[in-house]
Amino acid sequence: MHKNALIYVAGGNGMVGSAILRLLSRKGYSNLLTMPSSELDLRNQVAVDDFFNINKPSIVIDAAARVGGILANQQYPYQFLMDNLKIQNNLIDASVTYEVEKFIFLGSSCIYPKFANQPLREEYLLTSALEPTNEWYALAKIAGIKACEAARIQYGKDFLSLMPTNLYGPNDNFDLKTSHVLPAMIRKFHEAKVRSEDLRMSNPKHIERVELWGSGTPMREFLHVDDLADAVVFALENSLEDHLYNVGTGVDLSIRELASMIQSIVGFEGDIVWDDNKPDGTPRKLMDVSKMTQAGWKAKLGLEEGIRSTYDWFLENQNSFKEVKI
Ligand SMILES: NC(=O)c1ccc[n+]([C@@H]2O[C@H](COP(=O)([O-])OP(=O)(O)OC[C@H]3O[C@@H](n4cnc5c(N)ncnc54)[C@H](OP(=O)(O)O)[C@@H]3O)[C@@H](O)[C@H]2O)c1
Repeated sequence: MHKNALIYVAGGNGMVGSAILRLLSRKGYSNLLTMPSSELDLRNQVAVDDFFNINKPSIVIDAAARVGGILANQQYPYQFLMDNLKIQNNLIDASVTYEVEKFIFLGSSCIYPKFANQPLREEYLLTSALEPTNEWYALAKIAGIKACEAARIQYGKDFLSLMPTNLYGPNDNFDLKTSHVLPAMIRKFHEAKVRSEDLRMSNPKHIERVELWGSGTPMREFLHVDDLADAVVFALENSLEDHLYNVGTGVDLSIRELASMIQSIVGFEGDIVWDDNKPDGTPRKLMDVSKMTQAGWKAKLGLEEGIRSTYDWFLENQNSFKEVKI
């Protein structure tokens, strides 16, 4: 691929899009394009069509989506379904119309059925019912995968979908109303540590508590966003045979184990209280990453190392987080 090909990264301000842009620019790709939602609302078909007509990108990476945790998915099912359908439909359709050479669609591991065998293989897609807490989001993502597959079959397009596992890293959403489990834990433990240090000045025996959602038993896999960016650039630079690939580490841990890892990295010395009235979500979610491994890519960053650098990023940026509106 030419280093001066025009690459449009939709959602370039987000955690994933910004990691992809950082890596592309570090690798010498010089013709990069992105637009904030305030200037190009990807739900607007006419605006997206005009944008493609004017700019004519050669490569499109779709990292734009309405993203959120269980709470946000449950409160806003309509937006999670419709906004994501509109964004991806407009991008995929314009990419077909304006003859984009390569399109990479980013989905998520929640596309797989709730009780699918583990680890999750690509062929388990659409084999049984989804996890209800995020089925709206998952249905939109499944439609995106199928749209890319259809463009491949009907028009011979090099359109493909990458399904990342749970991601974390710089530019993650640390807003407790809408965030995912890992950044939410970093913030909760950090704030509890600060509170605890203050309260211990007046009462040295004070023990601060952090309340976490669910039972702590679900098993989850986490991938650093820089590793995902590396997988996206790998998919750009190589011609992959199929249309759907999982991207993860292939290793999981329980939410309790994750909590104690983050607690120790942050240095919080109080107690954890598990609120098992809150939903757990899918009991286990581990990706089978053998297809991507066979294609020649695998994750490089360890979880502990990745959480340490993400906590450093959190400390440096905590005064500039914006509130995430749904
Ligand atoms: N985070 C995860 O753990 C995770 C895991 C698996 C897969 N993924 C996938 O990775 C992709 C990106 O996720 P992320 O975590 O980077 O999310 P994010 O940080 O919330 O970023 C989402 C991006 O989408 C853009 N966007 C949202 N609605 C838009 C609209 N109507 N018009 C234009 N742009 C719009 C936002 O633009 P503005 O900032 O300009 O508003 C933002 O840059 C998604 O497809 C998601 O499914 C994420």
